[in-house]
Amino acid sequence: MKKVVLVTGGTKNIGRHIALEFARNNFDVIICSSRDTVSAEETKKEVEKYDVRCFALTIDVSNKQDVVRLKEFISEHYGYLNTLVNNAGILPKNTSPDDLSEDNWYRVMDVNLNGTYLVSKYMLPLLKAGKDPSIINITSTAAFTGGGGSIAYAASKGGIVSLTRALAKVFGKDGIRVNGIAPTLILTDMLKNRFKNNPQDLEKKLESVPLNRWCSEDEVAELAYFLSKPLYIHGQIIIMDGGRELGV
Ligand SMILES: NC(=O)c1ccc[n+]([C@@H]2O[C@H](COP(=O)([O-])OP(=O)(O)OC[C@H]3O[C@@H](n4cnc5c(N)ncnc54)[C@H](OP(=O)(O)O)[C@@H]3O)[C@@H](O)[C@H]2O)c1
Repeated sequence: MKKVVLVTGGTKNIGRHIALEFARNNFDVIICSSRDTVSAEETKKEVEKYDVRCFALTIDVSNKQDVVRLKEFISEHYGYLNTLVNNAGILPKNTSPDDLSEDNWYRVMDVNLNGTYLVSKYMLPLLKAGKDPSIINITSTAAFTGGGGSIAYAASKGGIVSLTRALAKVFGKDGIRVNGIAPTLILTDMLKNRFKNNPQDLEKKLESVPLNRWCSEDEVAELAYFLSKPLYIHGQIIIMDGGRELGV
């Protein structure tokens, strides 16, 4: 049976690289995002070069009706899912590390944490029907450091760490492995927008990384594919920070 992966926010940057990595490994790929249909179509075309099927859907992971629609779509087309990568996430533009605004708090929680919860919940029956099922949640080192440029962002990513571990306890009995990846400093739109007004501060960040380089999207994608394999790794958060937590 053809293996199938769902990558939320799989239309660009980290999510796109994850989608391509699974396509390279002969998975059919379903990607979704909430707005940018141009990037979605571009990614779909790139994925299809690997001679696998790709579906690009407009779905807001924080919207229950959308997530139910996503589940129905996959049920009709496949009836199962092998891997779910909860990658969709936001860091509001023009937010600051001390921003306590309620609008930002609720929106970030809705997309990053509630979205991860909703998609995991509604994909559960499909994962149960798939061979070697697994969930990979993309969190962030902000979950541990409290950084990431926003209180809401750090808290939402911390929530994903706890959710990953709680889901691992509950879903494990169905053979569904659940793990997380906590990367840092990948030069995507999210990070560039954060430092748009002070790019020199972004360059300085490298001084805190013993490996002295940025993390690449391909490295996250490779790890996501690795974690999708039926290994004895469960309930873990793999930190990809180039040794940053060691200090310099
Ligand atoms: N870049 C970094 O340094 C870094 C570090 C640690 C962790 N991460 C995490 O890695 C993940 C990907 O980050 P990235 O840097 O690739 O971000 P990005 O370039 O901003 O891409 C985010 C993706 O999520 C989608 N998305 C946003 N809101 C959504 C929603 N409500 N429903 C469905 N899809 C939605 C976006 O598409 P639309 O806008 O079309 O919805 C896009 O495809 C995020 O969870 C981020 O927190 C990134």
